Amino acid sequence: MCGIVGYIGKNASIPFLLNGLKRLEYRGYDSVGLAVHDGSKIQINKTAGRIAALQDLTNRHPLSGCLGIGHTRWATHGEPNSINAHPHTGNKNMLAIVHNGIIENFDLLKKELSAKGHTFKSDTDSEILAHLFEENMNNGFDLVEAVRQGLNLVKGTYGLAVICDHHPDMFIAARLGSPMVIGHGNGENYIASDAAPFIGYTKDVTYLDDGEIAVVKNDSVTVKTIDDQVVNKSIHIIDTDLKQIEKEGYSHYMLKEIMEQPQTLRNTTRGRLLLEEGTAKLGGLENDIESLLYSRRIIITACGTSWHAALLGEYMLEELVGIPVEVEYASEFRYRNPILGDDTTVIAISQSGETADTLAAIREARRKRSKVFGICNVVGSSIARETDAGVYLHAGPEIGVASTKAFTSQVTVLTLITLLLGRIRSISTAQGRDLAQNLQAIPQHVETVLKNRKQIEQIAKEFQNVKNFLYLGRGYNFPVALEGALKLKEISYIHAEGYPAAEMKHGPIALIDENMPVVVIAIKDNTYDKIISNIEEVKARKGRVIAIANEGDTEIANKADKVIYVPHSREMFSPLLTIIPLQLLAYYIAINRNCDVDQPRNLAKSVTVE
Ligand code: G6P
Repeated sequence: MCGIVGYIGKNASIPFLLNGLKRLEYRGYDSVGLAVHDGSKIQINKTAGRIAALQDLTNRHPLSGCLGIGHTRWATHGEPNSINAHPHTGNKNMLAIVHNGIIENFDLLKKELSAKGHTFKSDTDSEILAHLFEENMNNGFDLVEAVRQGLNLVKGTYGLAVICDHHPDMFIAARLGSPMVIGHGNGENYIASDAAPFIGYTKDVTYLDDGEIAVVKNDSVTVKTIDDQVVNKSIHIIDTDLKQIEKEGYSHYMLKEIMEQPQTLRNTTRGRLLLEEGTAKLGGLENDIESLLYSRRIIITACGTSWHAALLGEYMLEELVGIPVEVEYASEFRYRNPILGDDTTVIAISQSGETADTLAAIREARRKRSKVFGICNVVGSSIARETDAGVYLHAGPEIGVASTKAFTSQVTVLTLITLLLGRIRSISTAQGRDLAQNLQAIPQHVETVLKNRKQIEQIAKEFQNVKNFLYLGRGYNFPVALEGALKLKEISYIHAEGYPAAEMKHGPIALIDENMPVVVIAIKDNTYDKIISNIEEVKARKGRVIAIANEGDTEIANKADKVIYVPHSREMFSPLLTIIPLQLLAYYIAINRNCDVDQPRNLAKSVTVE
């Protein structure tokens, strides 16, 4: 939530800042701004709207200087307008700050600073930081100490960057609960909320940890804690290339990411699937596999789409590994008093690895002595670094706000974990081989589904104007119904609900009439007959049915209004195929409705506030 960039070096800062903000726009896109030090003073451009609006403003009011910070905002406190946009300054134009996070005690600090003569311009909690640091400088502290002392008074979370007109040679970055990454260049250095802005500039990065402050100059980076202890940080190499973060000819990132899935699924399983032994090899779990194997219970925690993947993990692990599994929304888990301990293992799933609730759930689980494993996409993310062990998705950067390829890779990683544990506990070689071979074939089946996208585009045209949608599935395809409905809601703003098909009779059936299309996932598994009865029930009430069925199922064509076919697979892998048409359906409906599918209103890709 909110994106921060910063540059110091020998070149004009504006190109990196604008380009970097563009790459971070998925984190928030309601207002945007820049502060640039021109060698003697700080100049600010900020505006409501997206990066394009800032670009226009900067064309009209050019800023020059080799030191600058920028921000793209997702509003928490104060409506998205140019006054509330970052950067914020104090009473004077001495300091400019950009902030991601929430200052919980801002009311108290504001009262104290107002009493000392500070006047606040915006409705944001963030502005308080500029005044607080300025007040400390007025009291004789140097910039670094003013920031450090100020942060010690703050309750809440921050990813932060600060520039000061007395210091054309440095900026300060700090982190508590909101990610901040430093990029090391040659005679120039960068900061950003994640490494995407650095791609094409540098591969060498340092991840700030919570409670750390960095002083960044063009030829040095020094890091200390807010308790004033010097920290020696290591440099990591990122291997993302420019191509991965470009649209490559697609009209939207979301479509690119949907279409990429055959490849991303191959990347997720590459080197991890042992066909002969019928098992999986997961380097990240090797040293800690015992704690998973001998757990009395596994809790999987996540938010949003990752939570839907978690539900599939529950089904697989219970069926094939035989360990009781519970799935918890991270936001609920963190605030109740869950029964944990060393006989319970927690698996946290997060594409971004930065979701605040998931991170807090992990910390709570570790406090209570449970081992925590992470399933993340973003390498070096907070969740990846705060878990005891884990598995990366290797799906490449996901930029579209609505998660697609990360979901299928999360499910695939859960399948690999199931195979690995299952083969040790109960699955025979023959069954393991069968599963491994079937999983290996999935990317090719996904290609087959994707080839059918014209049909889905056509169906989308017919249904683009309805107001409500119902999604039904059973067993492994119940979480797919939830995920299909979420995709539609997120990007087309059509109200949609996912239900276990049998639950329809306990309420949703009351809603069904000719205006309520029902998407039914009706693949040939052991509940097929039941789901056909559910279709009959919908048809009896004049509902229109879009069925997702297996190739060759001609019977269903007589019952449903539309049928989208997917290849056969083992039941446990079917979600990897049935979700694809639902992603495409949501996508095409949304573009027909002229919605901004990559940046839907009110949403952010990475939710770093609770
Ligand atoms: C946001 C995103 C969703 C995502 C959820 C969890 O709501 O818009 O697409 O599923 O956060 O994110 P995570 O990065 O933890 O998987």
